[in-house]
Amino acid sequence: MSVIKNVEYGLEKIFEGAQDFLPLLGTDYIEFYVGNAKQSAHYYKTAFGFQSYAYKGLETGSKEYTSYVLVQDKIRLVLTTPLNSNSPINHHLVKHGDGVKVVALWVEDATKSWEETTKRGAKSFMEPIVEKDEFGEVIRSGIHTYGDVVHMFVERKNYNGHFLPGYEKWESEYNPTPVGFKFVDHMVGNVGWGEMNQWVNWYEEVMGFVNFLSFDDKQIHTEYSALMSKVMSNGNGRIKFPINEPAEGNKRSQIEEYLDFYEGPGVQHIAVATDDIITTVKELRARGVEFLSAPPTTYYEDIPNRLGAHMEIMKENISDLQDLAILVDADEEGYLLQIFTKPVVDRPTLFFEIIQRMGAKGFGAGNFKALFESIEREQEKRGTL
Ligand code: FE2
Repeated sequence: MSVIKNVEYGLEKIFEGAQDFLPLLGTDYIEFYVGNAKQSAHYYKTAFGFQSYAYKGLETGSKEYTSYVLVQDKIRLVLTTPLNSNSPINHHLVKHGDGVKVVALWVEDATKSWEETTKRGAKSFMEPIVEKDEFGEVIRSGIHTYGDVVHMFVERKNYNGHFLPGYEKWESEYNPTPVGFKFVDHMVGNVGWGEMNQWVNWYEEVMGFVNFLSFDDKQIHTEYSALMSKVMSNGNGRIKFPINEPAEGNKRSQIEEYLDFYEGPGVQHIAVATDDIITTVKELRARGVEFLSAPPTTYYEDIPNRLGAHMEIMKENISDLQDLAILVDADEEGYLLQIFTKPVVDRPTLFFEIIQRMGAKGFGAGNFKALFESIEREQEKRGTL
């Protein structure tokens, strides 16, 4: 993998073919539209170890909606609820239930980001606007992506305040400890039948991303169901968006189930990185977070075969991984550990992945079969397989 320095922005470029017109510094925040932000915030603090960070609501002069901002290391979640029946946020809630509305990207120049992407065919969500308070200014703009999801571009180089203008610091007396989440590793979108390549092209043409990994239905299938997936990345690899579409199988695939219950395309899962997945998952389990069930014992017995030479660098005990139902995969460069929560909402839609990368750059393709069989056991219970 060659590394080219982007002189203008001081960013490294690791993917040949990725375009420089949209330099991205990282994920800025992820905004969920939820039915009850106060209670959701409590859940993400208690169960996932997020910290109280910023608040906007009636007390700060926001009469239309309330937003709670939570933080854990580099991850910021914004939970937003409308305060009356006229808010357009209600349409999103009625249709999708709680879900991800905004995947915000941290940029050097939000105006240029909007101009470059809309020029290339993006549908505008919000023209660049300057928001100011006594701590400086933030410029934000936004474009629509798949489904009702939006990418906001956030330029905060001239801002020293708390989150964004209009928010106040949220101080709480209830502060559960973090669980070790570090940053967003990747975020996955589910799109409709036959739409994956259309969105792959969109990310290439509009955002300058590259498709660096692809999985077809021959690789991702079980006895019952199948899906296809392509992983899109920006030039420096900090932003990775795999895109899934359902494929024909004997029964209903999990992507189809998602599309049915979310009533359209949307964010399927958010993968968060940790440096110590055993501690993180032990803590999450103790706090009531539910995970997909473990694969059979033969899966764990086979790990030395699958990891080969990487077994020498593996620090974790296989028995610990099995006890916690953590999955393991390897590629040429190393191995990775991962686990998936059950959906965090009542509709079988959004879930989280916890991932620890030990050199591996993949997404756990070796686990797809075990993972999907586990999901199918859940679908069976829901009567949606
Ligand atoms: Fe993932």
